[in-house]
Amino acid sequence: MRIDVVTIFPEYFGPLDLSLIGKARASGLLEVGVHDLRTWTHDVHRTVDDSPYGGGPGMVMRPEPWGEALDALVAGGRGEPAGGAPGGGVRLVVPTPAGEVFTQAMAHDLAAEQRLIFACGRYEGIDQRVLDHAATRMPVTEVSLGDYVLFGGEVAVLVMCEAIVRLLPGVLGNADSLAEESHAHGVLESPVYTKPPEWRGHPVPEILRSGDHGRIARWRRDQALLRTARRRPDLLAALDPGTLDKRDVALLSGAGFQVRGADMAK
Ligand code: ADE
Repeated sequence: MRIDVVTIFPEYFGPLDLSLIGKARASGLLEVGVHDLRTWTHDVHRTVDDSPYGGGPGMVMRPEPWGEALDALVAGGRGEPAGGAPGGGVRLVVPTPAGEVFTQAMAHDLAAEQRLIFACGRYEGIDQRVLDHAATRMPVTEVSLGDYVLFGGEVAVLVMCEAIVRLLPGVLGNADSLAEESHAHGVLESPVYTKPPEWRGHPVPEILRSGDHGRIARWRRDQALLRTARRRPDLLAALDPGTLDKRDVALLSGAGFQVRGADMAK
């Protein structure tokens, strides 16, 4: 996969050299280009913003530098012309609090792309025509990390890159961890423990030390379901009842949680 990021703060992306993302780059699983939007300005002040049409507070990012940046990256992000499909198999991702909410499912979809371009907006955002024009050449997705407002898209892009890159084949040493983790099946992960067996008066749950793999799996499932019901009732409500067995339903209703479509449980 190749990821290009356009930003007025390239320094934000130092962490893309570190840890498993840095390793993925070093091993050739991932290519990253970070580009300063001001490269595509032509005035002495290297201006990227202006006041909003219609009035209102703040500034809006002007379309011209963005248009030139996207032209350059789409045409020759790797020093060669893009071929094939319009946009050359590129998806533009724009972080904004006005976007659709980023989820693990979206991370999987984005991890399946060959190329991603992230456009980091600042101020009140990017002139909408940049996105509308880009959408005539490539798929464009506006994405929000959640219902809060950041200064700009840079941190959101770091978050998305981490979620996406860890899904690329070969990046995680043990791919099994992807199957077990929170959100893999619409439920949160159960708590985890390591040595010592007792710490500051808190023992590791006995069952995890029993060696009985069937009971351990059931215990983990119970903990995962109870945690999800308590902390994220929205996830529980969205669960496909076909993924629950009768024991799951009995556990949840015993703890006071009603499961939609419980009669369909296996
Ligand atoms: N930019 C500013 N706030 C954001 C958010 N919540 N998600 C994504 N990008 C943003």
